[in-house]
Amino acid sequence: MKILITGGAGFIGSNFIRYWLNKYPNDQIINLDVLTYAGNLENLRDLESNKNYQFIKGDIGDAELVNEVVQKGMDLIVHFAAESHVDRSIMDSSDFIKTNVLGTMVLLDAAKNNGKIRFHHISTDEVFGALTPKDKPFNESTPYAPRSPYSASKAASDHLVRAYFHTHKLPITISNCSNNYGPYQFPEKIIPLFITNLLERKKVPVYGRGKNVRDWIYVDDHNAGIDAVIKKGKIGETYCLGGGQEITNLELTGRIIKLMGQDRTMIEYVADRPGHDLRYAMDYTKAKKELGWEPAMSFDRGLKQTIDWYKAHEAWWRKIKSGEYLEYYKKNYLKR
Ligand code: NAD
Ligand code: DAU
Repeated sequence: MKILITGGAGFIGSNFIRYWLNKYPNDQIINLDVLTYAGNLENLRDLESNKNYQFIKGDIGDAELVNEVVQKGMDLIVHFAAESHVDRSIMDSSDFIKTNVLGTMVLLDAAKNNGKIRFHHISTDEVFGALTPKDKPFNESTPYAPRSPYSASKAASDHLVRAYFHTHKLPITISNCSNNYGPYQFPEKIIPLFITNLLERKKVPVYGRGKNVRDWIYVDDHNAGIDAVIKKGKIGETYCLGGGQEITNLELTGRIIKLMGQDRTMIEYVADRPGHDLRYAMDYTKAKKELGWEPAMSFDRGLKQTIDWYKAHEAWWRKIKSGEYLEYYKKNYLKR
């Protein structure tokens, strides 16, 4: 099978490519990624010599390039590419609309116009809005209620993907997943930011009072869920994937601090995120029943493994945090 992965140089995309080529070594993967500040070819160094892996630098919004790539005979498109950080979307939403909405449209058109290629769209639990502590977790029937520019752009892309199924009979599936963690996550997201700060003996900035709740899933459990949807999911359907590991940010911070042998004086309470969603949680019953998928990694083991990975890959994150990469990608990004 020939697969186009978009955004494969990012956190989940790079883990997914490695997961897929391990499990299906005879499949061929093309990774189309424009290398924004979050895209990093070092995430995939070990695969560069694999004859079934090819990288193409390019923007999913570039229709000519996307058509050219898709015409290389793709059987499947797995669409990860996105602007993914909520805080950045609050500072400036323009790239979120360009990539997450318009970029998705360009890909959908290319899939539609080149033989209706099977399309799997990667989305988020944030499209459903925010839960109160008493609410039941989100499921596939929860109405959309996005509340940040990021989640609004992802919601728009989900609607477009479904519209291409209904209008153009494009064979699509969507997975909406909760918060991922694991190796190669860019250190702007809470878990890698806090681990690397503590390794640098810096304080960790908890937004507000740290009462917000997230449902954490280890990245390879997410990858296994995407695999299950691609192989066994029903065309036109959406599947909710989650880790079943709800925890407040403060509890999470306490666990990271403890695992790293430090103390709570390292916590710094800072201004809250504007419009900060209180709680996300996913009910993955449909994926479990229909696909036989459920997350396998316990949070304790996954968190310890992730801390160990950041300890062992200091050069990787130090290069990013030193600004070398940020500056490099900023320049390239602006040149697009
Ligand atoms: P990331 O920010 O680490 O990576 C995004 C990748 O997309 C980068 O490699 C970047 O260079 C690339 N990209 C961005 N704009 C592009 C463009 N215009 N053309 C081509 N490539 C482009 O993101 P991530 O955390 O790996 O998330 C991947 C996907 O999963 C996103 O769609 C995100 O919405 C979704 N998701 C993420 C999580 C999570 O917890 N991280 C949870 C659920 C869903
Ligand atoms: O829920 C899925 C989503 O999870 C994905 O769709 C997004 O792409 C991904 O970035 C993530 O969004 P969050 O906003 O939940 O992730 P983040 O790591 O930015 O924040 C997690 C929680 O931690 C959130 O409640 C805000 C808080 N936080 C975050 C940072 C970066 C802090 O308290 N301090 C911080 O410095």
